[in-house]
Amino acid sequence: MQHRSKLPNLETTIFSVMSALAHKHNAINLSQGFPDFKGDQKLIDLVSNAMNDGYNHYAPMPGIFKLREAIARKYDLLYNSSYNPEHEIIVTAGATQAIFSAITAFIRPNDEVIVFRPAYDCYIPSVELNGGTVTSIQLESPTYKVDWKEVKHKISPKTKMIIINTPHNPSGTVFTKDDMLELQALTKGTNIIVISDEVYEHIIFDKEQHQSVCLFPDLKSRSFITASFGKTFHNTGWKTGYCCAPKDLMDEFVKVHQFNVFSINHPVQIALAEYLNTPSHYLELAGLFQEKRDLFLNLIEDSRFKFTPSKGTYFQPLDYSDISNENDFDLAIRLTKDHGVASIPISVFNENKLDNKVLRFCFAKTDDTLKRAADILNKI
Ligand SMILES: Cc1ncc(COP(=O)(O)O)c(C=O)c1O
Repeated sequence: MQHRSKLPNLETTIFSVMSALAHKHNAINLSQGFPDFKGDQKLIDLVSNAMNDGYNHYAPMPGIFKLREAIARKYDLLYNSSYNPEHEIIVTAGATQAIFSAITAFIRPNDEVIVFRPAYDCYIPSVELNGGTVTSIQLESPTYKVDWKEVKHKISPKTKMIIINTPHNPSGTVFTKDDMLELQALTKGTNIIVISDEVYEHIIFDKEQHQSVCLFPDLKSRSFITASFGKTFHNTGWKTGYCCAPKDLMDEFVKVHQFNVFSINHPVQIALAEYLNTPSHYLELAGLFQEKRDLFLNLIEDSRFKFTPSKGTYFQPLDYSDISNENDFDLAIRLTKDHGVASIPISVFNENKLDNKVLRFCFAKTDDTLKRAADILNKI
């Protein structure tokens, strides 16, 4: 049988590659973005109670109403921004499915989508599967600042969508209010849709405010927010997230959602509906991960790596240009095999695999794991 791949150049995601290598060589895994500590027992108990109470069949297609109401209350509380739980919030199988569905609902062959690089790895294949073309805007280490003049220059009559991600994986940078105002000004009066990937919304440091698209009325009117309970509540394996957008956008989103997943894990939704009603459950995250960032950076202060402290997410880029000329992929492999610590080479998220000699390390790990990893990094 002959077939023509729809994604001929796609390789296995780097997260699977590095995690498998870490496992094989028994290395400390600071590559994939998930905590190595257990989530809150209260939430786990709520899920098992929901299963015992019989919530084991299909949930309603957009998600259970109580969870959608709890999400709406969170936007009211944090941003004074309202999303109607009836038709502006949908529970999804993680942020990944929300992103895929939003892209699939709107992108037609030859539509252009602007993506900032380095970019989380699900954006581009989702655009390409739908026949769209990606216009990349490469951001440079260590500031990863957007040049909005370049964005203006790259917007064309074919530009259908812009994908942003703040706090940003893998750079650990955040968009400022000025960045958001620039984006709002550039898209005003156009038909451009924005996907704002805000999965790290609660993991933001040094008292910075998260600049959600919902704080900017014109941006809000054209934007999907995608979010991840897996990231927020330390249970990435549950693959539960959500998407918010104004009704006219959501009416199209739901047409894709109902046939690429239909509905999401029911007992987890019952549990999250209750758990989300206690704001400290998400408000405490910034403090927890800021302590971990500070611990990790203090531990490697005297190493030969250079860094700018991460402003958000649980990732820290480390520049190794004073240590080696190797390309970042080769170094990541060598560090895993020969030294026992796994990371992610940032070039895989860049246009044409641009190599700035930077590796991404995940610090969502126990203090003990971070100390063991730092001992290794300090000897390199
Ligand atoms: C920026 C970003 N977006 C989306 C996702 C996917 O989230 P989920 O696991 O909820 O699908 C991740 C996961 O690492 C991420 O880092």
